Amino acid sequence: MLASQSWLHLDAFSHRSSNSMTYSDLIRLANGYAESKALLVANELGLFTILGKRALRIDGLAKACRTTEEGIGLLANALVGLDLLTLRAGLYRNSPVARTFLDVRSASSITHLLWLLNHHWSDWMDMARAIRRGRTGWAPITKSREFRRKFALAMHERSFVLAPLIIAPIRLPRRAVRFLDLGGGAGSYSIALAQRYSKLTSLVLDQSVSVARSLIVRARLHDRVTVRVGNVLTTQPGIDYDAVLVSNLVHDFDGPDNRRLLGRVRHALRPGGKVFVVEFFLDENRTTPVDAALFSLLMYRFTPGGRSYTWIEVEGWLKKLGFGRFKRRKIWGSIGILEATRLK
Ligand SMILES: C[S@@+](CC[C@H](N)C(=O)[O-])C[C@H]1O[C@@H](n2cnc3c(N)ncnc32)[C@H](O)[C@@H]1O
Repeated sequence: MLASQSWLHLDAFSHRSSNSMTYSDLIRLANGYAESKALLVANELGLFTILGKRALRIDGLAKACRTTEEGIGLLANALVGLDLLTLRAGLYRNSPVARTFLDVRSASSITHLLWLLNHHWSDWMDMARAIRRGRTGWAPITKSREFRRKFALAMHERSFVLAPLIIAPIRLPRRAVRFLDLGGGAGSYSIALAQRYSKLTSLVLDQSVSVARSLIVRARLHDRVTVRVGNVLTTQPGIDYDAVLVSNLVHDFDGPDNRRLLGRVRHALRPGGKVFVVEFFLDENRTTPVDAALFSLLMYRFTPGGRSYTWIEVEGWLKKLGFGRFKRRKIWGSIGILEATRLK
């Protein structure tokens, strides 16, 4: 049988199986890391930033990236195939999407986010062992100052792009608003909200605040957005807040810690105040959206007790603490916002 006929046969066979995935889909899924890794390796080599707006031949690219010509040539050709570079008359250039997101000088750069995804490669490499033997908790490197700085930048690059979508449904009174951003990271959402609400004051509480501090100063909001180093599970942030944001934090903790965390949110809020939980929410089946199910697995390896949760799980914790008037909003992929009000 010719190779192509055999592929068709296998695809036809797959179509008769219980789901609609074909043999070709399966092979593409199994090999998906190759495309991802080509992008992440190019980011690690600084290729897109080095190229910037220039057009370079392979010898120039190899010299600028300090690589072998053979290696960078093969990588660059694959990146052309992935529409991340263009190639005309022997000259390589960044494609429009690379220029916008992959050059560190761009305002929309996601180079630190890609650094973090590349870091997670080591978590995935260790996954089979972790599944066999159990969680290992935070890797020592995640506690280093440099890791936390880059992590905060990665979070900002991600949250900066999402900020207009995330803050749009966060409706706050126009009068002076006291806002608490728990585990606020780089303070991206506090900054966006302070730009929208001219009387809002916000406290960003996080174990690492140096990136937030400099971004707040850069946005000239240091009189209204302040930072405090602390542990969200133990540090007292004050009381009588009108609203609390808990964004991308719940997935770091197990159920008991999340109940503790949300109990502290209740204590910090005035009666009638609102909490906004931003997360990768799972459906009740815990299998969809698949990005949330995959993220849950990654958190199994990356954190001591975290995972993705369902809307109902988080609502359940909040209900027991006296919250009500729940509003669920899907934002993008599995990312959603759960709004709840402290009833009494
Ligand atoms: C995934 S990031 C989300 C950052 C930000 N809320 C956002 O959505 O862009 C989680 C944040 O929680 C912080 N964090 C995790 N555990 C913490 C703890 N126990 N105390 C204080 N901050 C913590 C991390 O430093 C990090 O900034």
